[in-house]
Amino acid sequence: MKIEEIRMEELHSGKFIEQQVHDISSVVGSGIAINALSGGVDSSAVTMLGYKALGERLKTYFIENGLMRHDEPQEIVSLFEGLGVPVEMIDAQKQFFDALKGVTDPEEKREAITRTFYRDVFARLVRESGARYLLQGTNYTDVEETVAGIKRQHNILSQLGIDTEKSYGYTVIEPLIQLRKTAIREVAKALGLPEEIYRRPPFPGPALAARIIGEVTRERVGIVRSATKIVEEALSNTRAFQYLAILHEDRVTGVRKGQRDYGFQIEIRCWDSKDAITGAPTKLPYDVLDTLAERITAEVPGVVSVTYNITHKPPSTIEAI
Ligand code: XMP
Repeated sequence: MKIEEIRMEELHSGKFIEQQVHDISSVVGSGIAINALSGGVDSSAVTMLGYKALGERLKTYFIENGLMRHDEPQEIVSLFEGLGVPVEMIDAQKQFFDALKGVTDPEEKREAITRTFYRDVFARLVRESGARYLLQGTNYTDVEETVAGIKRQHNILSQLGIDTEKSYGYTVIEPLIQLRKTAIREVAKALGLPEEIYRRPPFPGPALAARIIGEVTRERVGIVRSATKIVEEALSNTRAFQYLAILHEDRVTGVRKGQRDYGFQIEIRCWDSKDAITGAPTKLPYDVLDTLAERITAEVPGVVSVTYNITHKPPSTIEAI
């Protein structure tokens, strides 16, 4: 790997920010750049760096792909508007659901999302905005895992031999590529982002689609979205690295009011980890698990089974697909 990591002990946030702002300004010159904000710490830090470097010549979009968490698109757009950074929301839900129709293989799902994002949605935004540059928050771990062939991270392009200039008509700038998450959190804090952003637990690029085994449909996203809301409410005070809900493909026999109910299965995962490279299941108190099972079966229509994953990473991964 040619990219060299900047380790936490070597990081000087102030200098790093200054350097990146300088680099972005010199690459983009008097041109226009665009970027997609998801609200995660990586894309948020990139948005702030880009805005510092380019001001209104940075066009920031929030791509509403239909796969985000409850109210997330509106909340993130408002938060950045509060920070003085304009963000335009693009409704691309239909494009993503059309691309995901009938797709069940995990890597094909990731590929469908990548293709829709970069080739369909972004290429059009680039054309319409006149931008020649795309800023994105690829980090050191994304590159490492993709190059190692563990998972295709949705934002890895050049490292897989994809020439974005040729394929999509724009150049990608990746200011965070030498940093891992902990270092990015430091930079995000130094950039003046609020705690809910710089402490935000990781959320994958393919969003809730990474937590659906089998076909991703609007209905199935709805189920996992409701379960996610409950899991996040119940576990946000655990200080765990990441916690999530997964919708299984197989249904199981349940019973409600004395009647057979052939329903959905939700798997909960809660991880202790430093860097997402390895992870251990958090030893959650049993009453917390009990409340989760109660709430999910009562509040998410059709769910009859809730399980807790007790596997380490490896051999598990953090997300399901
Ligand atoms: P896995 O599931 O590979 O996840 O153990 C490791 C960490 O990365 C997040 N993740 C992603 N992040 N794009 C991202 O930006 C992706 O495609 C992606 N897939 C997984 C995951 O949430 C975990 O924190």
